[in-house]
Amino acid sequence: MAHLEARKHISPDSGFPVTLHPNFNPKIREHVPPDELREEIFPDKDRALFADPEKKALFSVAKRVDLTESVGTVLENVQLSQLTPQQLDELALLVTERGVVFFREQDLTTETQVKLFKHYGILDKHPAQKDVRHVVIRGSREDHREILKYTPWPSGDFHADTSFEINPPSYSMLRMEEHPDVGGDTAWISTYGLYDALSDAMKKFVDSLHAIHTSRLQYDTILDLWGVGPNRPPIDSHHPAVRTHPVTGLKALNVNPGFVTGFAELKKVESDKLLDFFAYHVHSADDHYVRWKWAVGSIAMWDNRCTNHRVIPGTYEAPRRGIRTTVFGEKPYFDPASEGRAQRQARLKEESLKAASEKDVQDEAKAAAAVDTLTPA
Ligand SMILES: [Fe+2]
Repeated sequence: MAHLEARKHISPDSGFPVTLHPNFNPKIREHVPPDELREEIFPDKDRALFADPEKKALFSVAKRVDLTESVGTVLENVQLSQLTPQQLDELALLVTERGVVFFREQDLTTETQVKLFKHYGILDKHPAQKDVRHVVIRGSREDHREILKYTPWPSGDFHADTSFEINPPSYSMLRMEEHPDVGGDTAWISTYGLYDALSDAMKKFVDSLHAIHTSRLQYDTILDLWGVGPNRPPIDSHHPAVRTHPVTGLKALNVNPGFVTGFAELKKVESDKLLDFFAYHVHSADDHYVRWKWAVGSIAMWDNRCTNHRVIPGTYEAPRRGIRTTVFGEKPYFDPASEGRAQRQARLKEESLKAASEKDVQDEAKAAAAVDTLTPA
């Protein structure tokens, strides 16, 4: 962050950098994005919808280890490069359920990763991405608490990848090519879990809102910091604050501190206070959190529709370089008839208890009838 324009303008009074208005920051002011804004696209049916719900083909080779109750599973004894199309569909279904699935010691290359990920749809392109096929992800050695004073985008905070797009990504895959021995972990939070953790009254309220997902802040920061890109003008998308997952049919909180700046239906201070609450909510939800320690050759595949993630900043010196591929998802929508994950689990439990007790009644009736037929008249 040493390249930020603010670093060149030091207050003689405090000795700290002075924050420049973006319109007077030459790097931002003079940039003309070469591409147009995107229009909505309609991706093909999600591959997870083609999967066997029991995922028998995948689990015939892979050993499943769940890392927490709410989110994150490791698949062992498997090479992604060897999976069949049927197993890849089952993996997608597992990702929609568990939020993120991890692998170690994988033999994929950038080329084979790109080829594999095309199975899941049309590859997305980050607004600042030159190469259409993948984006290089690095680590964070900055104090994210400090840099927010000088540039507006909370780049170190929880987010769903480019959630400001009209069609935000569904699946992302990150494969680590270089990594320090310690530091640079990534954390994921289940947004099914974040929704479940709200009170019923709050759920009802948030169900009725649109969250303002913006690329404006990232736009300014990318230009200020890198002096290149973004390829497209900034965009605000008003997406439902609670979205329905198209595969699982579950409600997921669609508010993230990385890109959401307010709520369309609320007044400014109402919006700000609610954002404050959600910042607390995301950062206190360790019952819906998983933290992954990377090594070279490790891979994570996640679903941006039901998780947020962030890289944990550190002070490590060794380089960190990952290759990320993403595919376009559907435009987020809210189906009022959908249910939360905990609500569904409670309903299924109640239904199975009811079915079991009805079976008991039927069995007793049958047994009584059998006794009747045995009883001599
Ligand atoms: Fe990300």
